[in-house]
Amino acid sequence: MNIEQRVEEILSQMTLQEKIGQLNQVKAPLKADEEVFEQIRQGKIGSFIMATTAHAGNDDTVLTENLLINKMQRIAVEESRLGIPIIYGRDVIHGHRTVYPIPLAAAASFNPELVEKCYRNIAREAAADGVNWTFSPMLDLCRDPRWGRIIEGPGEDPYVGAVMAEACVKGFQGENISDKDSLVACAKHYIGYGASEGGRDYHRTEISDYNLYNYYLPAFRAAVNAGVGTVMSSFNDISGQPVTSGKKYLTDILRGKLGFDGFVVSDWDAVSQLKRQGVAETDADCAELAINAGLDMNMTDRVYINNLESLVESGRVSEETINTAVKRVLKIKLQKGLFQNPYCDAREIDRTVHLKDARTLAAESMVLLKNDGVLPLSKKSRVALIGPFVRERRALLGSWTLDGKAEETANFAEAMKSVIGANMLLSDDNIAVLDNSIARAVKADVVVLALGESEKVTGEAYSVSDISLPKNQVELIHRYKVLGKKVVGVFFCGRPMAMEGVAEYLDAVLYAWHSGSETANAACDILFGDVVPNGKTAVTFPKRTGHIPMYYNVTSSGRCVNCYYGENPQNCYVDSLPTPAFPFGFGLSYTKFEYGEIKADTDEILLDDLIDGKSFKITVNVKNTGDFDGKETVQLYIRDKIATVMRPLRELKGFEKRKINKNETECFTFELGYDKLGFYTENGEYTVEKGEFEIYVGENCLTKNKITVRLT
Ligand code: NOJ
Repeated sequence: MNIEQRVEEILSQMTLQEKIGQLNQVKAPLKADEEVFEQIRQGKIGSFIMATTAHAGNDDTVLTENLLINKMQRIAVEESRLGIPIIYGRDVIHGHRTVYPIPLAAAASFNPELVEKCYRNIAREAAADGVNWTFSPMLDLCRDPRWGRIIEGPGEDPYVGAVMAEACVKGFQGENISDKDSLVACAKHYIGYGASEGGRDYHRTEISDYNLYNYYLPAFRAAVNAGVGTVMSSFNDISGQPVTSGKKYLTDILRGKLGFDGFVVSDWDAVSQLKRQGVAETDADCAELAINAGLDMNMTDRVYINNLESLVESGRVSEETINTAVKRVLKIKLQKGLFQNPYCDAREIDRTVHLKDARTLAAESMVLLKNDGVLPLSKKSRVALIGPFVRERRALLGSWTLDGKAEETANFAEAMKSVIGANMLLSDDNIAVLDNSIARAVKADVVVLALGESEKVTGEAYSVSDISLPKNQVELIHRYKVLGKKVVGVFFCGRPMAMEGVAEYLDAVLYAWHSGSETANAACDILFGDVVPNGKTAVTFPKRTGHIPMYYNVTSSGRCVNCYYGENPQNCYVDSLPTPAFPFGFGLSYTKFEYGEIKADTDEILLDDLIDGKSFKITVNVKNTGDFDGKETVQLYIRDKIATVMRPLRELKGFEKRKINKNETECFTFELGYDKLGFYTENGEYTVEKGEFEIYVGENCLTKNKITVRLT
């Protein structure tokens, strides 16, 4: 019997109440609870979320113990009438016990293979602890770094978003979702949450359909194409329509246009929040709106279990609608193999390889923003290590770290000591009392300042109105600069911070992010030259908060003020020049890469040929002319010069990261076909239009290295 038949068979035996039970997700208890056990027995719980608070990412959220997980599963399997297993979900966002870089940082690695591998490791660790389903990857593109949740997503670009979505889904779900070490993934938050007004969490969004299809949806489309099992609806409304009750979004687009066939879970309490959003008066109204819109599983507020039965009886919801939702849930449970293997065997996991991969990904995620030649440091140099993040552990793990342990995380001082021993001159001064640190700095060859922000100003409900570095840290930089020493800033941050008045005073800037368990070791790998830096930022660094939003894929202004690209920025603001501090795709290396001329295998191609599946090739030689072997991420952007709607000045359409040894040249080839050259109309139809395309290949989005190809 195949899965569809099994689903039908189970469904045919279910009472309405049992069906509704499958759509009910509740908080997992942390200790035995007879009331909960009884609800399981009666088939009233379809899923547990293993989180004790709504802000799981910032609160301590203990994992339900294995014994209890299995005990409750046994009740479901052996004592409920139909024996349908429970699916256990948890926010396993960018790591489990081993923590990997926050997703915004991981995107900067431009290394989807490595990301996939690390997410496989994450799945292995979490599955061994009884997790079946993770609420990740978070795919909300964001153009506003004030938003605390920018850390959870892939940055500002739909192409990077799509590539990372695929990597994460494949990593979590593996070759086979039913494997013991696979997790069901959940693409969230669908859709548009990253556009929260002013970067204020949970706020409204205003998104045109054109923008939705071209900007916000591609990452979700990629997740769906990669076979993601579930999708989580987002808290926000779009132009007055809450997504939680938006049939247009949850059904017409997600299923109709994207072809998603898994199940949709709400966000925490989001169904009952339809009342506060002003589109429903009672819980029953909320349940009716959400289920009829296509929202299958109700997270935590029990609005479905308390209301759907009477809604069916009164005809406001059809049993067919319930059946459809239940079938989707059962299908994922069957695909996950929960009917055959419902229990967790609490395997011990050897984390040696996981930690090694975490260190590699952390190093590949870090971005060298500035270097006047001071880096790499010699392991013989005397380094004064100073600043508020010298001994910090927890922040390095980042927000949305439920199971990583700060006490197992090396801090920067420990990591550096393991490389240079007594050459590290560490000062424990409070940064307000600097005399001792200054005295040490005077003896040192170089000063390394450990700077940044805590995880408590990032993540859910932790947005900021100002992305500047705290004043005391800026003062610290100025104070060491006047000593006449070389000063290196290492930034442990969750978002791009405003770099005006900061980077100018530093001789080198290494953006280390909150890169997980191995943050400090990876930062030292780069500082001391064991790794040649190769991360490139997947989000623009504005110079100051007032320049937000600032993103590379802007459309062209009619008035010659494309300030991102340096065109008349003085006409944008009279008090500052809004060019990026560091543009999208930017990141330095210790070596130098020289880009050759771009070549296309044709300068003209028929649109009809593209429609028939032909493509054309773009090649460029990149030579490593520096003194180190190193990796470079070669980036290809297009500009559709004239179209029926305005298209961005640059759109990333390809990248490849490859190692190039010194004095060697590598040839990079990109194929451009129908799928890369078009856009979606506001009706969600994909179209490619004839005309001239500029094609750029270079080291970041500002590259001027360009060629033109015409579609006829
Ligand atoms: C609310 C968050 O928005 C979501 O990302 C998370 O998965 C749920 N809480 C569950 O913790």
